Amino acid sequence: MCTTVLWLSCVSLLFCGSLGCYQCFVDVEDSLRLCWGHVLTENNVRNVDECFRKLDRIFNTNETVIESGRVGEGYDKNLKEILDAEILPLAEEFDQKLNDESVYETRLQTAADNFIAAASKLPRVSGCFPPCGFQISGAVYNCITCQYDSCEFSLDCPVEEIEVMENSRSRMWCEVPFDLPSDIEVIWRFAEEINTQEMDQFKEVTAGVDRLYSIPSTNLQHQGTYQCEIYSGGRSIVRLYYYISVTPQLVVGHTELQEIFDLSLLPGGELLSAPDASPRSFLLLLPFLLTTCLTTSLLLLFLSLGALYWTSVSEQRHPDEGADEEGD
Ligand SMILES: *[C@@H]1O[C@H](CO)[C@@H](O)[C@H](O)[C@H]1NC(C)=O
Repeated sequence: MCTTVLWLSCVSLLFCGSLGCYQCFVDVEDSLRLCWGHVLTENNVRNVDECFRKLDRIFNTNETVIESGRVGEGYDKNLKEILDAEILPLAEEFDQKLNDESVYETRLQTAADNFIAAASKLPRVSGCFPPCGFQISGAVYNCITCQYDSCEFSLDCPVEEIEVMENSRSRMWCEVPFDLPSDIEVIWRFAEEINTQEMDQFKEVTAGVDRLYSIPSTNLQHQGTYQCEIYSGGRSIVRLYYYISVTPQLVVGHTELQEIFDLSLLPGGELLSAPDASPRSFLLLLPFLLTTCLTTSLLLLFLSLGALYWTSVSEQRHPDEGADEEGD
């Protein structure tokens, strides 16, 4: 019993840091049975460590073996079945019996070749949908880590910009092109006014299972970035972003107002065509209007001052003198 424990710890130390297709699927106990009778040719001594090194070289670090193990989702079970079918009979055969290392070499190499041939026939589709989201199901098996590689995309999707007329309806869908688990939670957040992907700018709006976020009548306060984040089992899967820019209804009013201005300012009152009627052109018109207004006021001021002066001067004079002057 004690020896077994000691051996187990030895074996785990031996394999430490270098996982591989063999180690992902074969139990340490089976490996110990397999390697029990490994005898070095040179000095006819039983050496189990050397057997483990052999397994490592033939299965765990061999590129061809690792490559054949890159199977599609769910097929790691098949990899285990294939490897078990090769290794377990060998373990049965070699347990408690002495065999020369050359026998091990030949038999293990054959087992590896058979594994490569069978594993290479398994499906190996990668269903990664770029550019974002944690997509575990789209990945292929990795014999080096004994796990499925994730698609390695960012959690954050790019911001999608939406232009909405004021008072009209806005709808945003929290949809992704890849399969989601059944136990998802959807959280909608909002960052007022700004177009951002910075997490600390957002405030939570709703949490639940709702994939649709709808604003029946969009107004200027609704302008900003909306984020929906999908979680499964406490783990974030993807974050989608929508930036809503609201076009105010007032602009329409401005356009009409400007047309009236244009009409009154143009000689003959001909209608001015304004293809890009916007508040900006109204603003451009403003200095001109102000100048006209100011000039008129100043003119009126001077005229009234003149009239005042003329009145006061004529009041100081004698009416007769005034009559004489008029005669001159
Ligand atoms: C890897 O394994 C294959 C098949 O067993 C073998 O032909 C090849 O030589 C091995 N490669 C290395 C680098 O050992």
